[in-house]
Amino acid sequence: FHSAPTVFQKVLVTRKLLKTSQHRLEQQGFDLVQWPHDSSMPRQDLLDGVKGAQGVICMLSDKIDKEFFDAAGPQLKVVSTLSVGYDHIDLNQARQKRVQVGYTPDVLTDATADLTVLLCLAAARHMKSGIRACESGEWREWRPDWLCGYQFKGKTLGVVGMGRIGQAVAHRLKSFGIERIVYWGRTEKPGLKETLNADFTSFDQLVTESDFVVACCALTDDTKQVFNYDVFKKMKKNAIFVNTARGGVVDQDGLVRALEEKLIAAAGLDVTTPEPLPTDHKLFKLDNCVILPHIGSATIEARETMGDMCVDNVVAALNGKELPFELK
Ligand code: DGY
Repeated sequence: FHSAPTVFQKVLVTRKLLKTSQHRLEQQGFDLVQWPHDSSMPRQDLLDGVKGAQGVICMLSDKIDKEFFDAAGPQLKVVSTLSVGYDHIDLNQARQKRVQVGYTPDVLTDATADLTVLLCLAAARHMKSGIRACESGEWREWRPDWLCGYQFKGKTLGVVGMGRIGQAVAHRLKSFGIERIVYWGRTEKPGLKETLNADFTSFDQLVTESDFVVACCALTDDTKQVFNYDVFKKMKKNAIFVNTARGGVVDQDGLVRALEEKLIAAAGLDVTTPEPLPTDHKLFKLDNCVILPHIGSATIEARETMGDMCVDNVVAALNGKELPFELK
């Protein structure tokens, strides 16, 4: 996508992008207002900064709600988020205010699927305890029964949210030896029986029959806290639960209880509520819970491309063209 220079249209960018995409952003001739610090843009600065802007590039940590749209004013044409998830954006408000919404699908699928596999392995193979043991001197002689976990071969994988990322996870884990794949979501996906031998099931069947349960779904009214104590109770005792979607799909107190009571074997989380999770949170104290700081898409390749896509979206909107990466 080649951009025509857009002269003096105010664009708010709530954080610095990576080097190459930042450079590209600066070449566009926007009247650029960009938060220069290595921190989220404070709410009041965000509301002041968006006033009179035609375009916005935001992060998933920015709340794009009615207050934001009201503060912006009627000239706002586009909000492009540096994420595939969009639960931080009030889409009804955007529609009402005729603001186009852009996002960054596809390019982070591989990075996020890789990290989902990493968390499956880390949780299933006691990586947290293993690293701690090495660093604390608790590592003694080789022991046949120490830190034994579970492998993929012959197991059932349950994918909640079989979109791009869910399918990429399923393909990866199939090559690790997963025998059966089941999934649940809004609709059955055509072709997945042929490509992955994956079966569309009820949520209940998925959680009761899977050895690995991975959450790759969007956070919506249907998925909000779908993983609660009663659901963990239905899972197998050897189940590994991994969440690279959004913290909000889990009732976290229910997960703490389930892990403490060993209702499931372990969990791997890249997302929590809130983020960052306070360091004294119970989940950090559990040996059977591995937590990463929302880095699913954190590869240079993915993040640079995500930055470029946001720039392309804003350039298109400000030139009256269709967004190349529009959330419809
Ligand atoms: C997203 O894009 O929604 C991920 O959570 C971060 O890249």
